[in-house]
Amino acid sequence: MLDKNRMPRHVAIIMDGNGRWAKKKNLPRVAGHNAGMKTMKKIVDHSDKLGIKYLTVYAFSTENWKRSAAEVTGIFKLLVTYVNSELKELIDNNVKVTVLGDYSQIPQDAKKSLEKTLRETRDNTGLQFNIALNYGGRDEIRRAVRAIGEKVRDGSLLPEEITEDVIGEHLFTGRLHADAPDPELVIRTSGELRLSNFLLWQSAYSELVFSNVLWPDFSPEEYEKAIEEYQSRDRRFGGR
Ligand code: IPE
Ligand code: IPE
Ligand code: MG
Repeated sequence: MLDKNRMPRHVAIIMDGNGRWAKKKNLPRVAGHNAGMKTMKKIVDHSDKLGIKYLTVYAFSTENWKRSAAEVTGIFKLLVTYVNSELKELIDNNVKVTVLGDYSQIPQDAKKSLEKTLRETRDNTGLQFNIALNYGGRDEIRRAVRAIGEKVRDGSLLPEEITEDVIGEHLFTGRLHADAPDPELVIRTSGELRLSNFLLWQSAYSELVFSNVLWPDFSPEEYEKAIEEYQSRDRRFGGR
């Protein structure tokens, strides 16, 4: 049973398996991404219901540009459809949307819809929904190092002032950006056992839960099972 008093504050999900789901059904990969979007919507709603404060989803990695142009275009089209059709509900549910990643490079219409969503949900105080888009953990650390380097160069920061907190605040999840704590729980679907460049810094002490279910088939029940698994873990943080 889920213990409502011990819910993770921040859950991060690697939504994997859309392509294999489509293949199993003899459908084009984009049909898998479409089904995956519907799952994402359900999981956003369910996170809100469970009282989770931060939900981060890995929607598109810095490596996913290697895929075919048709698939990449399809993914961004679906994203536009999602944000446009969900905006009202996100606002009604007091959800605040943020993006982790440099979305300046994504197709123009996707960028516009996204910016509208960010703007119109900016002051909401309910669930914070972080969409990792054109996100890579190494790219994120590189950007932070560079921003810190610039501060050192202009004299506003001394090298000896570079603490873990200073690095953390320059990441996409940091105080200067989305302002989210490290995730207590990282879930990956589809049976793959790796992080694929997701939240490398932030997941240092996250509990990892892997589900064999392909993302389009992931359900609120599976989600609760993953949280139960998290609640059964003994988190030690190196302390004993
Ligand atoms: C995850 O599903 C979604 C994205 C990476 C955008 P995949 O498209 O990676 O699905 P599989 O891993 O090929 O099944
Ligand atoms: C990770 O999945 C990226 C997203 C879920 C957006 P991938 O399918 O791209 O990762 P690999 O290729 O299996 O490592
Ligand atoms: Mg995959």
